[in-house]
Amino acid sequence: MKGTDEPMKGTGMIASAVLDSEAVTAQAYADSTAGLPADDIDIDRMKIVQHWERYTDIDHEVWGIIFDKRMNQLREEGSRVFLDGAKAIQLDPSCIPRLGDVNASLLPSTGWSSHAVPGYLPAKGFFAFLAQRQFPTTITVRPKEQMEYLPEPDIIHDVFGHVPLHTDEAFADFLQTYGKAALYTDDPVHTERLARLFWFTVEFGLIHEDNKLKLYGSGLISSEGEGHHALHSKEVERRPFDLERVCSTPFEIDHYQPILYVLDSFDQLREAMTGYAEKLLAISGRAAA
Ligand SMILES: [Fe+2]
Repeated sequence: MKGTDEPMKGTGMIASAVLDSEAVTAQAYADSTAGLPADDIDIDRMKIVQHWERYTDIDHEVWGIIFDKRMNQLREEGSRVFLDGAKAIQLDPSCIPRLGDVNASLLPSTGWSSHAVPGYLPAKGFFAFLAQRQFPTTITVRPKEQMEYLPEPDIIHDVFGHVPLHTDEAFADFLQTYGKAALYTDDPVHTERLARLFWFTVEFGLIHEDNKLKLYGSGLISSEGEGHHALHSKEVERRPFDLERVCSTPFEIDHYQPILYVLDSFDQLREAMTGYAEKLLAISGRAAA
């Protein structure tokens, strides 16, 4: 996500054997939702099948290499909530996860589920998923030559990086409330503020656990360089989380983050979001519940 009206999911479809003509149709529908009223967006039409059998040995190998490499750091430096969540949804370095298996563990815990989408979703389409406790998930895998960095999300960023946190009740509630607020907010000032909130929490958030600083944002979980920089660089200003301050802090996407925000708990995030959503939904004439 780059800014107010920018897409929430990458820059377009990656050519991949995992995708087919069904993905093209789903993408065309997703694109056409950009001007639709929020209540008319049909998230099911954006979903595609994860043809798991089409992943190549190299795809599974790339997943496994990154999984092992990241877990080496995250066992020490990742949030306990992330580590417990990855275990709960049974992520495993031996192969790319099947979303059906992930959901079998996830749904009974918080009611969240992950669904394959073709790639880019307009912002409102993305928010419509979150508002229904569903996470739109890219299912392609980065090429082996680009294991260190890929500008658009892939299944490693989305499932390894994001989905483990959806097992946590407080985070799960926060994310749905965020989705509802963002879906029904059309004021560009608040849209910009919400984009900043997403960036500094879901993508690049840090949290205090057991008197230590830990990683939880997907951009930090899924990137060795970003994760290390976030925790250890003297260049980073680590500020205590404060919703107003977060929403007023601009961000840039093309370099390591110089400012990060640190939560005391995911309850703190849920509570702050609930208050803000009540305000936004009242503006849009809707109830928060
Ligand atoms: Fe992300």
